[in-house]
Amino acid sequence: MDKQQLALIIPAAGSGERLGGSVPKPYIELAGKTILEHSLLKFKQVSGLGEVIISTSESYMDQTESLLEKIFPDLNFYVVAGGRQRQDSIRNALNKISGKTGLVAVHDAVRPFVAVEDIEKCVEEAARWGGAVLAIKAKDTIKVSGTDLEIVQTPDRKNLWQAQTPQIFWAALIREAYEYADKYNIYGSDDSSLVEQVGGKVVLVEGSDKNFKITYPLDLKIAEFLAKSGEL
Ligand code: C5P
Repeated sequence: MDKQQLALIIPAAGSGERLGGSVPKPYIELAGKTILEHSLLKFKQVSGLGEVIISTSESYMDQTESLLEKIFPDLNFYVVAGGRQRQDSIRNALNKISGKTGLVAVHDAVRPFVAVEDIEKCVEEAARWGGAVLAIKAKDTIKVSGTDLEIVQTPDRKNLWQAQTPQIFWAALIREAYEYADKYNIYGSDDSSLVEQVGGKVVLVEGSDKNFKITYPLDLKIAEFLAKSGEL
């Protein structure tokens, strides 16, 4: 596929239960800017970006709208209400995408350390194959548990990867995947798993462990340390 317009969807409607605290994760500040703003500034540097849609909770919609006006004065953008699960938040955003969009990137608000070159590699591979996902090789051996925490399987680590975001797809393919998931009430823990269900080809793009998801209190401490060291 030729170079085509890219839409960015950022789910930012999580409650941040695992992190604790009253401010949801994307709205916590690191080095003077919210985590969400840092993530958006990475995508601002990606060529071909045509529109941005953020799903967030009702009480953060105005703040998010002002942030988008500040960062992307020349782009189409929307702020939509999030849903119960991450997948619901993304579906609400997908419904806003314009017909001009060829590729859709989904990126967690809470991965502000993503490298611009890695996003661009992912865009290229997605345009070529249908879907591409940034990922890192599994560092630990992964066990599959049965009942009573008994180990039932140890898959070969060589073939195991930890999926991150962005996950980027042809717009028509991610739309089809979400329609199928809605019809059969399927929930996946990432977007790629839904695209895989409809037979879409999705490839892995090796990224970096710096692109971690700020989830637990220790992640926030690491993020603060990296931000102070000039990593953003
Ligand atoms: O909760 P989790 O770590 O999977 O969140 C990943 C991203 O999805 C976060 O940016 C969070 O704000 C977002 N999310 C959402 N709507 C939900 C749950 C999570 O937009 N219902």
